[in-house]
Order: sequence, then C-alpha cells, then structure tokens
Amino acid sequence: MSAANETKLNDSDLCHIGPGTPAGEMFRRYWLAISRAEDLKEIPQAIKVLGEELVLFRDGQGRLGLVGLHCSHRGSSLEYGDIEEKGIRCLYHGWLYDVEGNCLEQPLEPAGSTFCQKVKHPSYPVRELGGLLFTYLGPAKTNPPPLPRYSALVREDGTRLVLPPRFWDYSWFNFWENVVDSLHAYVLHRDSRSERSWENAFWRHRGDHHLDALPTEYGLKAIVRWPGPEPETEYVRLTTVALPTVFSLGGRGEEDLGFERLLFVTPADDNNFMVYTSDFIPKDAANPVDEREKARRASPSAANVKEYDKRKYVPFKGQVWKEDYVCQSTQGNVGYRRENLATSDRAIILLRKQLLEAMETVRNGGTPKGIIPEAKANEMIFLEAYRAVLTKSQVAQLLNGRS
Ligand code: FES
Ligand SMILES: [Fe+2]
Repeated sequence: MSAANETKLNDSDLCHIGPGTPAGEMFRRYWLAISRAEDLKEIPQAIKVLGEELVLFRDGQGRLGLVGLHCSHRGSSLEYGDIEEKGIRCLYHGWLYDVEGNCLEQPLEPAGSTFCQKVKHPSYPVRELGGLLFTYLGPAKTNPPPLPRYSALVREDGTRLVLPPRFWDYSWFNFWENVVDSLHAYVLHRDSRSERSWENAFWRHRGDHHLDALPTEYGLKAIVRWPGPEPETEYVRLTTVALPTVFSLGGRGEEDLGFERLLFVTPADDNNFMVYTSDFIPKDAANPVDEREKARRASPSAANVKEYDKRKYVPFKGQVWKEDYVCQSTQGNVGYRRENLATSDRAIILLRKQLLEAMETVRNGGTPKGIIPEAKANEMIFLEAYRAVLTKSQVAQLLNGRS
C-alpha cells in the first residue's frame, strides 16, 4: 500500500507499539534501553520489548544475546534454558542457539542432519553503554544506526550511577508526555518536595509562569519560567527530550551544577513499560541522588485519610511516584480519552507532533528525528537541563534558540 493511501496518523496510534503498527515501526528505528548491565547475571532474563517476548543473556564468552523467548522447536521458554560457552540451550530437547539466533545443535536429530541450518531463531543486537544495555529491534539489524553517546553515559569526569529500573502497568505514553508536563509538579507534588532553599524559590511561586517548548536537533526543550528574585531576572527550569524516549532533567539548581539525570523509557507492550535512570555526578559536585531517592521512596502520609476512604490508591499524597501513578494510570489512553489541551500543555502538543511526524517519516521510508547520523557516531551528545536564575535578555536569547 502506498503512503498516500494510508490513513492519517493520530494520537491513538501512539498507544500501539507492536510489530507492524506505526508507533511500533518508529520505535524499531532507535536503540532502546532494556536492562541495567549489573542486573544481567549468569541466568537468562525474560523481557518483553515492544510487544515481543524475548530472553536476554550473556553467553559463556561474555557476548550479549537477545533472542526469542520461545524455543523454535516447540516453544518452551528459554528463560529456563542453560547458558553455555556458545549460546543458550533449551532445557526440553537441547536445541542450542547462539546470540545471533543460529541453531547450532539439535541433539535428538540423527547424526549428519542439517535441519539445524534451516532453523533461524529471532535475535536482536545488544550493546552496553554507561551501565545500561540497549537493543535495536529494527530492520537494519546488521547495520543499525549509531548508539547515541549521551554525555551522562560516556563522561569520565565523575561518577555514574544507574538506578534500579521501574516497571509500570499503563500506557508508556501517559508517562512519557508527563515528562514535559513540567508544571504539574507545582500542583501535584507541591507537598512532596524536599526542603532545599534554592529549590523552594521555585516551589513557592504561584501564578505568572510560562511554559515554552522549542524544537532541537534531536527532539525538544521544555522551558518553564517565573519572575526571578530581582526585577530583571527570571527563574528558569529547562529540560530536554531526545526522540523517541530519552529525557534529561538535570540538577535542581546551583547546588547540583553539572549533575545529569537521564530517563530512558521503553514500552514492554501497549499497557506496560520500563523506565531506566542514569545519573552522572561530576567530580567535586554535590551528590543529590541520595536525597532524591529518599524523596522518591518517602511513604505517603495516611495522617489525613478519612476512615471511610476506601479509594484504591489512597494514601498517595506525599509520595511522588504514587502521585504520578494515580494521575497517569487513570487518564485513559491518548487518542481515546476526552481532552481539552490548554496553554500549559504546549510542550505536550509539540512532543505528540514530533512523534507523529517521526512515525509518518518511518512509514514513508525515511529516517526519523533523533537518529544520530553516521558522521556524528562518535560525538558525545549533551542533552541540556538545568534550573537557574537568568537575566531577561538571557531568557530572550534562549527563546530565540540562540543559547
Ligand atoms: S522445545 Fe526447545 S528443544 Fe524442544
Ligand atoms: Fe510528577
């Protein structure tokens, strides 16, 4: 079918990421985070990525493999297979697969049988960078695009910390559009913040804020600002997205200068996704990670919960992740829910537009935004993110794309 005959893509297409869907095909052009390197030990790990059931392992030679979960013989789960020098062996009848999906042995077939060579088991490339494992599920398996060298993953001038992954049971896009919904924090999380003075200057301010969204080479920047401490200044919070699902949210202000935090979101299927978090703390900089994690893990407060309040997610106030969960998991899926997008949704509108354009580009055989060109394969990519007080003229430059 030619592209011209196909229906126009809309928001509901963002919710479906299986093979052959427009969003699924888009995701299959990028490298996606699928595990922390340190979590892959000497047993196979079952994992679902973009609706595909897979198993991740390191063979006896240390090579990374990501192959179909179900054995190509009669379907037993390779999650229970044995790892060997050359690959992974199914526990049922012993078929052995290497990391490229070649079937190397079928011990119950007659000597001299070449049936092995006819079997090709699904497999995908895996690479390790900055303590994370990434895969590419697309058509250019032997010649995938460059794995982006985001600075937080490759810098050497400090400490890198990859946090335990998080697994959620709703549409990936509800989480994803929330990352650029910068203003929700000032309502939903207003009582869950930490007690840092500089940051509180942000939190205290009400009204008269602006949210702008600007396209960048690989995605977009979301910029929130308020009147600053001096008449000619503004408080600015800037975060950056790289398509399809990398988010840079940086430090919390002057105390954390140079701190980088990247989130990588990977859909498991239409209703489940994973979030990987990589932090980089420059030498001599304050380490905000412990405090952030403390804030994230803090228990919700049950103090003001009414005795007859039996709502499913209560208590949730005071626990940032649960506050987010309550909002995002009850929204319904984009394209199916009723909405009235407002000025504060500007960045979301741009994000949706960019993703739909990327889907359309892939559908037409092109290269979507966010793919690193071969010529820049070795470049370090810095995804800007900070909170700062800027002068009004600096803000003007920022909004004109000159900074
Ligand atoms: S089902 Fe795996 S070898 Fe038979
Ligand atoms: Fe939030």
